[in-house]
Amino acid sequence: MPAAAGATITILKPDDWHLHLRDGAALAAVLPHTAERFARAIVMPNLKPPVTTVAEAEAYRGRIIAALPPHLTFEPLMTIYLTGSTTPDEIRRARQSGFVHAVKLYPAGATTNSEAGVGALASIYPILEAMQEVDLPLLVHGEVTDARVDVFDRERVFLETELTAIVAKFPALRVVFEHITTREAADFVESARPGVAATITAHHLLMNRNDMFTGGIRPHHYCLPVLKREQHRQRLVEAATSGNARFFVGTDSAPHAKHTKENACGCAGMYTAFAATELYAEVFDAADALDKLQGFMSEFGPRFYGLPVNTAKVMLKKERIAVPADFAFGDERIVPLRAGENLEWQLVR
Ligand code: DOR
Ligand code: ZN
Repeated sequence: MPAAAGATITILKPDDWHLHLRDGAALAAVLPHTAERFARAIVMPNLKPPVTTVAEAEAYRGRIIAALPPHLTFEPLMTIYLTGSTTPDEIRRARQSGFVHAVKLYPAGATTNSEAGVGALASIYPILEAMQEVDLPLLVHGEVTDARVDVFDRERVFLETELTAIVAKFPALRVVFEHITTREAADFVESARPGVAATITAHHLLMNRNDMFTGGIRPHHYCLPVLKREQHRQRLVEAATSGNARFFVGTDSAPHAKHTKENACGCAGMYTAFAATELYAEVFDAADALDKLQGFMSEFGPRFYGLPVNTAKVMLKKERIAVPADFAFGDERIVPLRAGENLEWQLVR
């Protein structure tokens, strides 16, 4: 049975294992939402230009810390963006840095600011070799970019043609299949060798592809990988609420200004950081699995990354609350998921 109205749940403070923070005024606008809810986050490197070196990651980390309001504490866990020019030396420097925790692989052209990503994946095998050697995790945007492949099949085809080979060829490489959206991806991760995990977003747990078209086209429900059929959503909920430590939170909260989403060629990404823990609580409550929430949100990610679990706690209360139409986003506005609708859970401050 779902929890009664007014019920509360307290869990160890979560971390977000997949987050887009952007830079400048956008960074300052979105960072407090994350820092209120999460102690740490894996920060994606797809800035323009991308964060490709340890030195750039260090500078970006400094800008994030400088943008943090004084009353909040938050630790950005940095990543670097794998390109055709990444060197094994940079990988070793990343490992030694103490603040770079992973390397992100975007197939070139797969998503927002991925132009600098990797073409033929075999060309980066020497880098993967170095990552395996120093035990630096590979975070994968798992979609093929071949325009002939149907957009709803791109994750499954990537899994079949690329990821299976990488996981087999580098048996000690830790790999996170990011923001999985399909039954096939969940099945793969569940039965893969040790060292393979997946993040799951709140939006892929809450919505299916019909939600892009209810009553008209819904640009704020467009993200990559794109929402899939209901059967896939159900399999993701099963994986997330299973208590299997291979599956953990990664919001993929991806802020874009309102006018760039409500556009003839709208950007991909949903903004969920403003209520991420609340949205996941809703999913776990609806699945009658609140007892599994802490593992998914707060324990399995640190275990995979070899970091301590947080000691602080957060409390959530089942109480409906309205979501604003938009938030300030530098000189622009940003439209959150559920704008003008309700959340079922609230963060108790
Ligand atoms: O929807 C998405 N938005 N998917 C991604 O992979 C990138 C992200 C972004 O940076 O906007
Ligand atoms: Zn992302």
